[in-house]
Amino acid sequence: MRTTRIVEMIEVTEAAALAAGRWMGRGDKHAADAAAVDAMRSAMDTLDISGTIVIGEGERDEAPMLYIGEEVGRGGEEIDIAVDPLEGTNLTAYGQSNSLAVLAFAPKDTLLHAPDTYMMKVATGPVAADAIHVDASPAENCAAVAKALKRPVEDVVVCVLDRERHTDLISEIRACGARIRLISDGDVFGAVATAIEGTGIHLYLGIGAAPEGVLAAAAMRCIGGQFMGRFAFRDEADRERAASMAKCDIDGVLDMDCLVATDEAAFIATGVTDGELLRGVKYFGQGSRTHSVAMDAATGTVRFIETVYKTGDEPFWVRRD
Ligand code: FBP
Repeated sequence: MRTTRIVEMIEVTEAAALAAGRWMGRGDKHAADAAAVDAMRSAMDTLDISGTIVIGEGERDEAPMLYIGEEVGRGGEEIDIAVDPLEGTNLTAYGQSNSLAVLAFAPKDTLLHAPDTYMMKVATGPVAADAIHVDASPAENCAAVAKALKRPVEDVVVCVLDRERHTDLISEIRACGARIRLISDGDVFGAVATAIEGTGIHLYLGIGAAPEGVLAAAAMRCIGGQFMGRFAFRDEADRERAASMAKCDIDGVLDMDCLVATDEAAFIATGVTDGELLRGVKYFGQGSRTHSVAMDAATGTVRFIETVYKTGDEPFWVRRD
């Protein structure tokens, strides 16, 4: 049953990625996003679930589909669903790496309902999970990760969104000796990459969108990594919206128990463009190929799945990538 649900949800992110991938490099991030949202919404409605979108495309008055509070599915198990049908709209529009179609699901009322505001985030993989803190300085977090990974701080790579607001953060990371992987967008990738060996990223630091924080936290819940946040409200209206939605202290540390209050969360992502975590969608005339990861805290599994969709009548070789 659980495995069936996971596979169904993989098909949901695959559908979004297959739709968005058609817009790769075409310079239109809104069209790419709309295609992903539409495909994800349609795919969800074929499922026997009573899903509530708790992280979505915005609030009811600003998003026609997958808005916060929207009910999805044909009826069945009651679950919270966090979605980002296209994480990294610019990355897709300009053919850059690491855009993803993403969702997380968990039992009803266990995922933080976060409005579209900002969040200070810190994340790392399982080995250094207990060593970092959102209130620690960048130098302290880098040193803690270096110690846990048994390496000099110069061997630690920190992923940071390339934003003006991070000027001081970047200087402090450089001053302590750690190296930086600057990304233009896509901090779900940045945070999750810290828990995947081979990505070359060990720590994620910085302020990004709050909804993406809940998605990344769900992945870390599944994989045993650490994610901690603090809301960084733009204004009082943001604060009020958070207060009306979130069940934990909105001025305090957003720890894993507040962000993802369950051991039964699952995180699914399909690559849209090629990246260190997942390969992007490939179309080859007679079909297409997707690459996804499915992490399930309930069963303790992490699956990397390649799917070939046959669309034409001609025979073709199914290839191992
Ligand atoms: P999209 O909404 O265009 O997919 O952008 C995603 C993203 O880069 C997130 O990964 C990140 O958390 C957020 O935008 C950063 O927001 P801002 O661009 O306002 O700094």
